[in-house]
Order: sequence, then structure tokens, then C-alpha cells
Amino acid sequence: MSRGLFITLEGLDGSGKTTQIKRLAAWLQRRGLSPIVTRQPGGTATGDSIRALLLDSRSTCLAPMTEMALMFADRAQAIAEVIEPALAAGKIVLCDRFTDSTEAYQGGGRQLGSQLVLDMHHLICGNLQPDLTLLLLPSLAVCLERARHRNDRVAAQSGPDENRFEQEQDAFYRRVWEKYREIAARDTDRIVLIEGNLTIDEVHEQIAEAVAERLITAGHAR
Ligand code: TYD
Repeated sequence: MSRGLFITLEGLDGSGKTTQIKRLAAWLQRRGLSPIVTRQPGGTATGDSIRALLLDSRSTCLAPMTEMALMFADRAQAIAEVIEPALAAGKIVLCDRFTDSTEAYQGGGRQLGSQLVLDMHHLICGNLQPDLTLLLLPSLAVCLERARHRNDRVAAQSGPDENRFEQEQDAFYRRVWEKYREIAARDTDRIVLIEGNLTIDEVHEQIAEAVAERLITAGHAR
């Protein structure tokens, strides 16, 4: 059996990833390809506990290194439990965030630098690389605006508090945004950069086009 296809979605909070991953999953379903959809942090029982620790705004004083180590602990579990078995079974895996997020948020945002993150990725994740990464990067102003709206909405609801990152200052998000651009410029074969303030339909069209192309190359097209 041929190996599956590993597709990741990346972008800032408020970039529209969640909407797009759902649309992409439906698009694949309509083509008879049932993807495994997962997210990071989270996606396994252990990962959900790690996610709660990482995103809860009551987790104050998390050192940047702790934060990065927890992201990798979550990822190691997801690779072992979900991603590798699915790829080995020939499935398409759609993952909402992967190591590019750690490079952008911890490497860029928390200023730990790229090299450390890439070294950890080698060590902990066996350097597993996505076959395709869709990076949604509307302007920083739009991301900040949407993230703030969401923050207000979440704060108004009861339920699990997942606000810790969304309480970060604009300077943090600027560093994340710039690091994402740097990663995209470095890895043009793997990453499709979807820039600008496009409509949901326009972004979906670009995603569908990129995925269709990769499916043909990988021999998954029907
Ligand atoms: P989530 O609610 O999943 O955000 P989104 O819907 O925007 O993807 O929260 C994930 C948060 O965790 C998000 O702010 C980015 C952050 N994060 C990191 O800082 N490093 C990482 O390696 C990952 C995977 C996520």
C-alpha cells in the first residue's frame, strides 16, 4: 500500500484556518477521499490534557522552553498515535498546525529562534515533514482584528478557557507573522503561501487547487 499524504494548515490566530480545514475535508470527502482531521496541540487524549495546560490563561509563568517542550510532547504523541498509523495505512491526514507553528510562535513570538525548534523537530519528531503546507497569511491587521473579536466572544462564554495566546500583545503577533513569512520563503517546495485579504471562497479555491495538484503528483487523484 502506498503511503498517505500529510497536509498541514498554518497561520496566525484569526487567519481562518478552522473554516478552511472543514471546507477542505468536505472537498476531499466529495472526491471519495476520507481524510483524518486532527489538530495541534490536542488530537489525542494525552494531547488534550497538554492543550488544556498550554492554552488556559491560568497557566501563568510558563517559561518559553516549557511551552516549546509541551508542544513537542503533544506532537510526539500525535505522530505515534494518529499521524504515522494513518499515513502508513495510505490515508490523507489534515493537521491544523504542526512544527511551523512552533517555529513561528515559540521560535519567533517567544524569541527562542528557529534553530532550536528545528533541532527539537529532528530529535523528537524524526524530522517528519508534511507533503504540503497551506499557510494562510492575511495582513497582520486583519488577523489581530479577528483574533480580538474571537477573544471577546470566548471571554463572554463560560466553558474551557483557551485564551492564553490570544492575550498576547501585538508585538508578539508581529514576530509570529514575520517568522511565518521567513519559513515560507525558505521552504517554497512544501509551503503554499496564501496571502492577502481574500474571501473565504477565494482562499478555498487556492487551497483546492494546491491540494488537487499534490494529489496528482502523489498518485491519489481519482
Ligand atoms: P487554537 O485554539 O487551536 O488556535 P487556532 O484556532 O488559531 O489554531 O490554539 C492554538 C494556539 O497554540 C495558537 O495560539 C497557536 C499556539 N501554538 C503554539 O504557540 N505553538 C505550537 O507549536 C502550536 C501547535 C500552537
